[in-house]
Amino acid sequence: MSRHSPAASLLVVALLLAGGSEAQKSRDQEDPCKVKSRVVGDVTYCDRYWECVNGQPELYDCPNGLVFAGKHRGVTEGCDYPWRSNYCDGKQLANPPISTEHCDWLYGIFGHETSCTRYWTCWNGTSTEQLCIGGLLYNEDTHSCDWPDNVDGCQKHPLCNEDANGNVPLGKSCNRYWQCQGGYPRLQRCPAMLVFDRRSLRCVVPPTEDCDVPIPLRPRPRN
Ligand SMILES: *[C@@H]1O[C@H](CO)[C@@H](O)[C@H](O)[C@H]1NC(C)=O
Repeated sequence: MSRHSPAASLLVVALLLAGGSEAQKSRDQEDPCKVKSRVVGDVTYCDRYWECVNGQPELYDCPNGLVFAGKHRGVTEGCDYPWRSNYCDGKQLANPPISTEHCDWLYGIFGHETSCTRYWTCWNGTSTEQLCIGGLLYNEDTHSCDWPDNVDGCQKHPLCNEDANGNVPLGKSCNRYWQCQGGYPRLQRCPAMLVFDRRSLRCVVPPTEDCDVPIPLRPRPRN
């Protein structure tokens, strides 16, 4: 202990104040006042960091749900979404989640309660509903929209809720539609000269109520 510099001793005191028994682990804690950036991650907790303030190390918590990434890194205050990297390998979280409606933590990206195509982004506890488009589904593992094949438990797209093996119109399209196969939608195109009929949910000879006869392709000009 005697070889500790005054700054390191202050750090130990700070750690003792921060949480008793954890102080033993402070042996390897870097001193933020000895690094150029003046900020270092906590050695035990990935959601905490030390900043050198007026020549003294001070302990800070990342915004709830975020973990320390490094100065000027992450999404705010040097903190990032924990799943973006291996920030927490071998470390623990010091803080429990603070939840609000739709947000498991105050900051983060979370799955929707009732939909595979929707998800929530949360910023300081305020949720914003987001939508996956183009037949993609929200993937809980990557926290982003993904191909249905990659989304465990969500292959059954809400598009196919009504009929797991039926056809579903694609907007106002006259030749494209969704074909559900066991609850899993595939984008299909009617054969040439046929149009998708929204009533019978099949490709039929036009015209239908919504679709005229397609304009035939012009024959290729000869060279
Ligand atoms: C987060 O929200 C709380 C309460 O709604 C507010 O007091 C605080 O200033 C906000 N923090 C940030 C960083 O926006």
